[in-house]
Amino acid sequence: MVDFAARLASAAQASRMDICTIGFPAMAAEPRRVEHQQTDKGYVPVYTTDVVEQPWSSYTSDDHATWATLFHRQREILKGRASREFIDNQERLGMSADAIPRYEELNTVLASATGWQLVGVEGLLPELTFFDHLANRRFPVTWWIRRPDQIDYIAEPDLFHDLFGHVPLLLNPVFADYMQAYGQGGVKAHGISAEALVNLTRLYWYTVEFGLIREADGLRIYGSGIVSSKGESIHCLESPAPNRIGFDLERIMRTRYRIDTFQKTYFVIDSYEQLIEATLPDFTPLYERLAGQASIPAGDVLDSDRVFHRGTGEGWSGEGDV
Ligand code: PHE
Ligand code: CO
Repeated sequence: MVDFAARLASAAQASRMDICTIGFPAMAAEPRRVEHQQTDKGYVPVYTTDVVEQPWSSYTSDDHATWATLFHRQREILKGRASREFIDNQERLGMSADAIPRYEELNTVLASATGWQLVGVEGLLPELTFFDHLANRRFPVTWWIRRPDQIDYIAEPDLFHDLFGHVPLLLNPVFADYMQAYGQGGVKAHGISAEALVNLTRLYWYTVEFGLIREADGLRIYGSGIVSSKGESIHCLESPAPNRIGFDLERIMRTRYRIDTFQKTYFVIDSYEQLIEATLPDFTPLYERLAGQASIPAGDVLDSDRVFHRGTGEGWSGEGDV
């Protein structure tokens, strides 16, 4: 199981499911906890657009304890597994197990490092709203944390995933620029076609959420969906099941992915510079070339792939790529 089914899964879900966006009274006094709904049609994501103040004093001792448990556990697991950049920057941010961090304090560090700012949100954002935040160097962070019974699995991003997972790399100047460029590219793709948006979403998925990087001592994790998940942090590097393949922009944009299980394939970058360099060119001709091309199943290996590890595929279920 993955730790969360994620914000960017929404592009794929939008085509299959009813979407519900809730509106609000002009002044929401207390931020709400907006989660997906389970209906007779299955999982229905719920979207919200408000930016809210982090209601820090409303966190209960259970909330702080959940943060502490997850923080300790992941920091331990990530030793020797996470990218140097992730660990070092998380330390620079001063996050600790003691209490849920205050966005305001993290924002001071972010402001002077790369100019990024965290903004509180109530749950999933509609795509365009999400892109607009990124394009302006604002990173939306869910204000609420999972309940104790959701420690090992939650279907959507919560405060732990967003803060622990995404914020450290926003201190890295190259990655910070990549995230902003992604937001700008998202606004553009949104205006091109639904298919372009699916292509772009796959890039986010296989880099920002589930990316691996090749460092001097071996493969390391930088994807937020991995670092916030106990099971996947181990699986992505140590399990013989998944493929580990060299980063290839066009290949990634054609590759389907899993939102309900560990990934079948991880893509490995050589450096953060590689990400920016590969994604700098205008994607418009690329979207045109990809239009109508068949997508690649999540677990496939192609002859053209630079294979670090060919997955055994053990434990894989056939259906469920999106
Ligand atoms: N260069 C991309 C475009 O023209 C924008 C982009 C940058 C997308 C970085 C993703 C990541 O659409
Ligand atoms: Co995420």
